[in-house]
Amino acid sequence: PVPVIAIDGPSASGKGTVAERVAAALGWQVLDSGSLYRIVALAAMRAGVALDDEAGVAAVAAALPARFETGRVLLGDDDVTTDIRSEACSSGASRVAVLPAVREALLGRQRDYRSAPGLVADGRDMGSVVFPDAGLKIFLTASVEARAGRRYKQLIEKGLPANMQSLLDDLRERDARDAARPVAPLMKLPDAALLDTTELDVEGAVAFVLDLVRD
Ligand code: CDP
Repeated sequence: PVPVIAIDGPSASGKGTVAERVAAALGWQVLDSGSLYRIVALAAMRAGVALDDEAGVAAVAAALPARFETGRVLLGDDDVTTDIRSEACSSGASRVAVLPAVREALLGRQRDYRSAPGLVADGRDMGSVVFPDAGLKIFLTASVEARAGRRYKQLIEKGLPANMQSLLDDLRERDARDAARPVAPLMKLPDAALLDTTELDVEGAVAFVLDLVRD
């Protein structure tokens, strides 16, 4: 089968950046599964479907006209690259992600990303549910303070308002929701390698993963 590297971990741990760089280094495809949950939340809000209406949101997820192009995310003909990063979509994604029917509706679409020569998949349940046979599983994490600090820096660099306390509160709330849900809760699997980036930069994290691939 086509090889998969599954990278799971909490919000703002740097999974996305590490997954992209590892994929680029290997010439593999990349799946940012979190963006699918974000697009579902956005599409549901636009369609006037309540985010706790499980059947309604699952129907939106099953028929999602979403496409990824180089550096762009499209919903139908609409470029939603920026929209899906909004606070509303971040919290909306975390709310629709607790619904089993929504997760089920996204399963086949995620597995379709597995194509030669290989796939780097990033999310919460890549190693547990979507690609349980992945040859390499990584649990990428960092302290909540380090993660909030990185997000703070990104916002300041973009000239956006940032408040450390509200970033910490938001991350703790989303960590709790991801860990507490009955379906596909976020956890470190026994067969996953632990990569703690609290004191490690992106280059160090990428090197850690590539070393494991080459073993
Ligand atoms: O950027 P951040 O890490 O905060 O979020 P993301 O990776 O874009 O994912 C958005 C939300 O989708 C998360 O808060 C999770 O609740 C959910 N998610 C999930 O349940 N399963 C996945 N495989 C990926 C994301």
